[in-house]
Amino acid sequence: MFKYILLFGTVFFLLGCSDKPAEVIYKSDCMQCHGKMGLTSALGQSIAIGSMSEKEIKLALHGYQDGTYGGPKKSIMQKHASPLSDSEIEDLSKYISNLY
Ligand code: HEC
Repeated sequence: MFKYILLFGTVFFLLGCSDKPAEVIYKSDCMQCHGKMGLTSALGQSIAIGSMSEKEIKLALHGYQDGTYGGPKKSIMQKHASPLSDSEIEDLSKYISNLY
């Protein structure tokens, strides 16, 4: 019994405290606008992020966070980029650039 409590405790600890895997973040928070392969123009505005390089995506996400990047609909992306940690951005950029 104790073993299970320990196990579940560890799992919830990890879920709550550590970075979420890029795939989980993308599917729950990005895919509805950017599409399964990152090729949808989100809200008719964004470029196809699946065709961006890892470096470009990283630059864009950090830029949305600090207000140095974006077009007419950047406030939408600022909301989605702001909760991401640096390492989540790192992983997400890699993940998105390899989507297709
Ligand atoms: C509600 C819809 C929506 C969601 C959800 C969303 N985005 Fe976006 N995204 C947009 C729009 C609209 C733009 C273009 C904004 C602008 O004018 O700069 C954009 C732009 C981007 C860009 C830059 C592309 C460009 O056109 O310069 C990247 C990279 C990006 N999003 C990644 C993400 C990631 C990663 C997530 C999930 C954490 C996410 N987006 C969630 C709508 C969304």
